[in-house]
Amino acid sequence: MNGGLRDKPVEELTPLEAGAELKALAEEIARHDLAYHQNDAPEISDEAYDALKRRNIRLEHLHKISRDDSPSEKVGAAPAAGFSKITHARPMLSLGNAFGPEDLADFSDSVRRFLKEWRDDPSLPLDMVAEPKIDGLSVSLRYEQGELIQGATRGDGATGEDVTANLATMEDIPQRLMGTSPAILEVRGEVFMTKTDFQALNRTQVKAEAKPFANPRNAAAGSLRQLDSTVTSRRSLKFFAYAFGEISEPIAKSQWEFLERLRAWGLTINPEHRLCHDLADMEAVYGDILARRERLNYDIDGVVYKVNRLDLQERLGQAGRAPRWAIAHKFPAEKVMTRLDKIEIQVGRTGSLTPVARLDPVHVGGVMVSRATLHNEDEIARKDVREGDWVIIQRAGDVIPQIVGVVMEKRPLPSSPFTMPRTCPECGSLAVRVEGEVARRCTGGFVCPAQIIERLKHFVSRGAFDIEGLGAKHMEDFQAEGLVLTPADIFKLQDRKEEIEAREGWGEKSVENLLAAIEERRAITLDRFIFALGIRRIGSANARLLAKQYGSLARLRAQMDEAVNPESEAHADLMDMDGIGPSVGTDLIAFFAEPHNREAVEDLSSQLEVAEFKAPAAGTSPITGKTVAFTGSLESLTRDEAKARAEALGAKVAGSVSKKTHYLVVGGKPGSKAKKAAELGVTVLDEAQWLSLTSANSEAPSNELPLFTAGGLQDDLFKPTDDAGN
Ligand code: IVH
Repeated sequence: MNGGLRDKPVEELTPLEAGAELKALAEEIARHDLAYHQNDAPEISDEAYDALKRRNIRLEHLHKISRDDSPSEKVGAAPAAGFSKITHARPMLSLGNAFGPEDLADFSDSVRRFLKEWRDDPSLPLDMVAEPKIDGLSVSLRYEQGELIQGATRGDGATGEDVTANLATMEDIPQRLMGTSPAILEVRGEVFMTKTDFQALNRTQVKAEAKPFANPRNAAAGSLRQLDSTVTSRRSLKFFAYAFGEISEPIAKSQWEFLERLRAWGLTINPEHRLCHDLADMEAVYGDILARRERLNYDIDGVVYKVNRLDLQERLGQAGRAPRWAIAHKFPAEKVMTRLDKIEIQVGRTGSLTPVARLDPVHVGGVMVSRATLHNEDEIARKDVREGDWVIIQRAGDVIPQIVGVVMEKRPLPSSPFTMPRTCPECGSLAVRVEGEVARRCTGGFVCPAQIIERLKHFVSRGAFDIEGLGAKHMEDFQAEGLVLTPADIFKLQDRKEEIEAREGWGEKSVENLLAAIEERRAITLDRFIFALGIRRIGSANARLLAKQYGSLARLRAQMDEAVNPESEAHADLMDMDGIGPSVGTDLIAFFAEPHNREAVEDLSSQLEVAEFKAPAAGTSPITGKTVAFTGSLESLTRDEAKARAEALGAKVAGSVSKKTHYLVVGGKPGSKAKKAAELGVTVLDEAQWLSLTSANSEAPSNELPLFTAGGLQDDLFKPTDDAGN
C-alpha cells in the first residue's frame, strides 16, 4: 500500500501525490507481472490486477504524467484477442422515432391512452423530460457499492462487449461514485467525441499518415473499441449519463430527479435537458435545440422525450425493443448545396450502366460526400440534372447520399441535357436499353473488364463448361494474375504450365489433372456452349431451345447476322420462337452484333469442337406419349429439370397419381403418391431406373441433357446495388 493514497480517487490527488502514486503503481504492477509470468504464482486476482492497471492509465491521463517504466507502455502480456461478451442485466433498449409534429402528438396520445387516469382525464398533467439525442454510442456502466466494476457497449441490446478498461480511462467516468449510491446501479449513457476533439484527432491522423475518421461518432467508436487502453486514454472521449439499467433500490421519483442524482454521484449529464408540461413545450424545445444544433460542440440527431415520472415509465413498460414511455424526435435529413462536377458512368458486374454524380466534396449528415448515385437515365431526365449544375443533396442516418434536385437559378450557361453514352465506358461495346427496362447495359459481356470476372465464373459453372478442378475461386485468382482474361484463355493454359505450378497450392500433379480436365471439355455440346456465353436471359432452358432450333454454331451465327435486319426472315423466326420472344431475342441479336463478342466467340470456337445438336428421334423414347409423376426428392437433378427432361422426350408430367399414370418416379422421402401408385398398380421407378429409361436413346453426346437448372448470370442474380459503388 502507498500511505493511504491508493484509496484516494485519482482526480483528487495533488501533483506531488500523483507522482508518488504513479511510481508506487509501476513498482507494484511490475512485481505482479513477475509473480504471474515468471513464477506462475500470482498474488492477487485478475480483477485486482486490472484495477491497478486501470488506475495507472487514468493517472497518466488525468495528470498528464508518465514514467519511463510505465506499465501501460509495456507490451509484455499477449494482447487480448478481442473483447469478452457481457450479458446486460437488463436489455439496452432502442427508441421509437417521430419524424414530425404529428408523430409526436401520436406518441403523447398513445401514452395517455395506455394510462387509464390520463385517458379519462385529459386535463391531468403528463410531464416529459426532453434531452438532446447524442449521436455517439451507448454504454452501460455497472457500479457495485459505488465502485465501477464493469462497462459494456450496447452490442445487440442483449449482450455487448466488455470495454471496462477503456471506459475507466475516461475523465467523465468516475471509478467511484460520490456520496451514497445503491448497492447495484447500472448507469447508461452515451460516449461521444466533441467536434473540436474530432478535428484535432483527424489532424493528428493525417500527420501520422493514418486514415482520418469520417465523423465524430466513428471516431468515438473506434477509440472506445481499442484493445490497448492506452490508445483510448489518449483520445478525448466524453460521456453523458441519461438512463439506468439494473438498480437494487429505487433511486428517484422522476427522470428529472434521477438526472440530478447522477450529477451528485459525480457523473456528467447533458445540461440541455428541459422539462415539458405539454405538447407545445415539447415542440418549442425541439425548435430551440434544432436552431442551436450547429453551435453545440457535439453531434446530435434529434430530441428524446421521456415520461418524467418513473412509476409511470414502469407502468408503460416496453413494446418490442423500445420503451412506450420515450420517443426520439429526429431532425430532418441534412440538406446541403454543392456543385455537380461530372456525371460518370459505372459499369456493374452484370453490365448495367449506372450514372454517378461527382460532387465538389461537402460535409453532410456526418460524412464527407463526393459522389451520389443518379440511378439511371430516366431519373436524370426527371430531375433534369446536368453537369456543372448546383444540386441539393441530402443524407440521413446511414442512407446513401441522394440528389434531391437542381438549383435552377444557378444553372450555368450554356448547358445541355445529359445523354447516356451509347457505348460502354469500360470496353467500348454497344450499350443497349431493352424496352421496359430502366437500365442500359453493356453488350460486351466477354470483353468488358467490369463484367469479365462474373462471366468467367459463369463460364466454368456446372451447367456450362463444368471443368473439374476449375471453380469460381480459381477463376478469380487466375484472372487477377492475368492467366485467364477471356474464356478462350482457359484452353490456352497448357502453355502456361510452369506459371500455374509456381503458384501456391499447385503442384505438378494437380496442374496435370487440371489440364486433362480442360482437354476433356474441348468437345462440348451446342446448348452448353450457348449457355456458357452468359448472354442475358439465356439460361440453360433457352440455350437448349436455341441449340435445337439452329442445330450448329455456324448456323446460329449466320442466322444472328441476318437477324440484325428487322425485316429479315431470320429476325421473324427468332421472334416467333416458342419460349424466346422479342425481348430475349433482342438481347441475343445485340450480343452477336457486338464486334468484341463476335471476336471472342470466334477465338473460343477455334479452340473447341462444338458438336451439332441432334434432337432425339421422335417417338423413340420409351416414355414418349406416357404420363409420368414424381414424388420425393431426386439426387442428381431437381424436380423442375426432371420434369423438363420428361417433357422434352414427349412425356406428359402429372401432378398426382391416377389410373392414367404410366410411371411414378420415386425419390428420397416419397409422399403419399407412392402408396396410391401401389394401390392402383402404377409402375414405380427409382431414380436410377428412371435415368436409364430416359437416356436409353441418347446415342450422341449432343443429346446429353444438361444436369442443371435454368438461371445464372444472365438472369441477374446479382444485386445491382453496388453497381454505383456506394
Ligand atoms: S434513452 C430506453 N436518451 O439513442 C431508452 N437515448 O435510438 C434508452 N441516445 O441507443 C435510451 N441520446 O444510444 C436516450 N438522451 C438520450 C439519448 C439516447 C442518445 C441514443 C442511445 C440509444 C439510441 C436509441
